Amino acid sequence: MRLSVIGCGYLGAVHAAAMAQLGHDVVGIDVDGAKVAALSAGSAPFFEPGLADILRASIGSGRLRFSTDIALVADAEVHFVAVGTPQARGGGAADLTYVDAAIESLLPHLKAGSLVAGKSTVPVGTAARLAERLQTAGTGAILAWNPEFLREGYAVQDTISPDRLVYGLPADDGREHAKAALDTVYASALASGTPVVETDYATAELVKVAANAFLATKISFINAMAEIAEVTDADVTALADAIGHDTRIGRRFLNAGIGFGGGCLPKDIRAFTARAEELGRGESVAFLKEIDAINMRRRQRAVDLVVDALGGSVYRKKVAVLGLAFKPDSDDVRDSPALDVAVQLNGLGARVIATDPAAIPNSIRLHPQLGFATDTMDALHEADAVVLVTEWREYRDLDPVVTAALVRDPVIIDGRNVLDPAVWRAAGWRYTGMGRP
Ligand code: UDX
Repeated sequence: MRLSVIGCGYLGAVHAAAMAQLGHDVVGIDVDGAKVAALSAGSAPFFEPGLADILRASIGSGRLRFSTDIALVADAEVHFVAVGTPQARGGGAADLTYVDAAIESLLPHLKAGSLVAGKSTVPVGTAARLAERLQTAGTGAILAWNPEFLREGYAVQDTISPDRLVYGLPADDGREHAKAALDTVYASALASGTPVVETDYATAELVKVAANAFLATKISFINAMAEIAEVTDADVTALADAIGHDTRIGRRFLNAGIGFGGGCLPKDIRAFTARAEELGRGESVAFLKEIDAINMRRRQRAVDLVVDALGGSVYRKKVAVLGLAFKPDSDDVRDSPALDVAVQLNGLGARVIATDPAAIPNSIRLHPQLGFATDTMDALHEADAVVLVTEWREYRDLDPVVTAALVRDPVIIDGRNVLDPAVWRAAGWRYTGMGRP
């Protein structure tokens, strides 16, 4: 099929490249000329395993191109809208400026019968409003809402082989046409048995925020248990293992630590809360404010543990911060709890030396006041305390004996509960986890 993708950020760039990889003819549009130039040269503008490979292969085969010229979408049968919906300044609601701008820019180029498929995460009710816009503009185009569930670090795999597809379809006669077009786009996933949930616009929009709200709730639930474990000398890791054996609960997303961050979970629960309040149902998701509050407390808790471990003050102490990205295998520092811990320690007067395999450039742009080291061993050298805040494989695999010889004082705060306390203590370290005795 001939496809266009409007917005080539995380979601759009991966979607465009993955669709071309599946054999479609794709044009990706973005207003940012530098991004378009990088993508056109086959270079991924962010760290995402496998993305550069499929970008280069598809550009080489002639099935994928990027441009700032929206007129190039004219031939496309399906237009994916994949622009960002950031948190609005000064509030929790989603900022829909980019979604609206994308639709307006598409209007003059839409052919009757073409499909506009929204992928951006939007407040419930947006798709109905946009469908009306397409209609009043007399485009003859049909709207579907087709949310995306990709995880950073697994974005290519999640896009090519999703665990489910959600089609938010119009109620009128455009329904069959929209479904048929999406079935053709996703033919390869459908052939391998990917389940499809066909629904209305509102449900499709809600599926996305409900999924992220549930995941955030799971993480904050276990972090709340960590807070209780901290005052009872219980072990939240063993607790998670034990409750996780119940298949109704499941062990995934029950890792306690410094909590969740990134470009989705924090902003999505806030936007969901704001939308529910607008709808007069604020109380239905009022618990999400508590989820957010628990999550933000965990960052503070990690900072307090470092302060305590250093005898009440970090002033002029060298603290090695292992990790800056909001999770491993990513260079994304949006709302990163790891970066936040580094910034807070720096604010308390610590000499922070932070390291990360991928996220240093993005961190320097936001917080040039921090100290950085590209080499883990340089970060650890003569440190008064170490705090592990992003569980990259190379930090999980650190040798406690080798590292003990590098630091000034063998003090470690494990903000992700990924190290074996017995092994680290045996090597002489004073180990503190989060919700572990
Ligand atoms: C998330 C959703 O998983 C994805 O489906 C959606 O499309 C976008 O948002 P992502 O932001 O890539 O994806 O990250 P995810 O893997 O969900 O992790 C989110 C945050 O939660 C990270 O900061 C991670 O460190 C944290 N987390 C995750 C925990 O603190 N504990 C856990 O047990 C799991």
